[in-house]
Amino acid sequence: MMVITLLLATELAAALQVVPSSEQKRVQFDKVVQSTYGRYPVTISRGKGCVLYDDDADKAYLDFVAGIATCCLGHGDQRLVDAVSNQMRRVHHVSNLYYIPEQGELAEWLVKRTRGASRVFFCNSGGEANEAALKLALKHATLERKIEAPVVLTALGSFHGRTIATISATAQPKYHGPNGCWKIDLFDHFAYNDVADATAAFERHKGKVAAVLVEPVQGEGGVKPGTPDFFAALRRLCDDEGALLMLDEVQAGVGRTGKMWGHDHVLSGDYTADVVTCAKALGGGVPLGAMLCSPKCDVFQPGDHATTYGGNPLACSAGLAVAKAIDDDGLIDNTRDRGDQLLTGLRKIMDAKPHLVADVRGRGLLVGMELHTPSASDLVALCATNGLLLVPAGPAVVRFVPPLVATSLEVDAALSIVEDALGALEASRNSTEQSL
Ligand SMILES: *Cc1c(COP(=O)(O)O)cnc(C)c1O
Ligand SMILES: *[C@@H]1O[C@H](CO)[C@@H](O)[C@H](O)[C@H]1NC(C)=O
Repeated sequence: MMVITLLLATELAAALQVVPSSEQKRVQFDKVVQSTYGRYPVTISRGKGCVLYDDDADKAYLDFVAGIATCCLGHGDQRLVDAVSNQMRRVHHVSNLYYIPEQGELAEWLVKRTRGASRVFFCNSGGEANEAALKLALKHATLERKIEAPVVLTALGSFHGRTIATISATAQPKYHGPNGCWKIDLFDHFAYNDVADATAAFERHKGKVAAVLVEPVQGEGGVKPGTPDFFAALRRLCDDEGALLMLDEVQAGVGRTGKMWGHDHVLSGDYTADVVTCAKALGGGVPLGAMLCSPKCDVFQPGDHATTYGGNPLACSAGLAVAKAIDDDGLIDNTRDRGDQLLTGLRKIMDAKPHLVADVRGRGLLVGMELHTPSASDLVALCATNGLLLVPAGPAVVRFVPPLVATSLEVDAALSIVEDALGALEASRNSTEQSL
């Protein structure tokens, strides 16, 4: 009945040539979609490269969000379109009850590019990749080390996902619900990049630490790059304890930092991770996640873990298209160069406006600009009005995570919009001060 009414309404609208405006569509949207997001008044109808379009409003946006660090090849990339359409025609979903050649091929690519890793579990998202890692760590601790009440250590300001276990791992109270009602009791925390505090956390739980789960660059928590000293210390602390070092590469991984992995900047030589999780860029925007592990903790047996969709032929064909772009098209080199250009440009802006901009930092195309006041969302809104999409990372940090195919011209265009928007922010603040 509802479908019929909707169909009639659409046909009637078409017959009368009453095309609803973007604004009307947004009002209708909010009636039927739950309020889990405070959305910007931006509607997207299509995209090409680093540009998104709202055809109803006749507007174009330079996309420096990329579906939050996800669309690494941008929008409408021909390689991705061909890979996914061809796969769709062959077979798009079966089940992990059977052998899926595309999954084997993608696993081989991942293992080859990840020091220390030997086998892969595929899933659909970052949260699920971290769930798999936590499950693996708990089985490893119970089976191999006979720990009765294992603890997992994570960093303050981290972000690991939105499932009950991964928000509990996420050491930011704003994600834990009213009175912390969504938080389960499995985790303890240490300050990021603080060796003494991490050492103290291991001391507190001596003999019970199953694993550390940590981001090589904290993304959501304000774009904070990890230091080599800290990660080397974590590796040693884990080895002394027998705990697993698990790296959440969901945002930083698969090229975003200008290297294959974010941890390639902070763990070198014989230092490797025991577990690496990734998602976002891996499928280029087609839902795909993965959890890689080393032989030492490869403890899952049939029945331990499963997923209906994870690693299906469609998602893996997207992953293989991303892999090919990384191998053949110098995607990672471009990421490093555009990242340097973006950092340099933002530092220039900071030097010109030190009273507004407190810090600029990042690795590759995972870059943050910190303001002195918690006005990241104001700046993001101003930039959107001027045709640039950005996303906050906490109240005072604006995050730049464009497609890894961004061009030099696009980075310059983004910089110029940010500069103008900062000027507008300052002007509106001046006029508010005057009227007070
Ligand atoms: C986005 C993100 C996640 C969660 O990924 P989903 O695909 O949204 O479940 C986990 N960890 C990090 C570091 C992330 O940036
Ligand atoms: C805002 O006020 C300061 C201090 O009076 C001034 O230096 C600055 O130029 C003003 N900025 C704008 C954009 O009006």
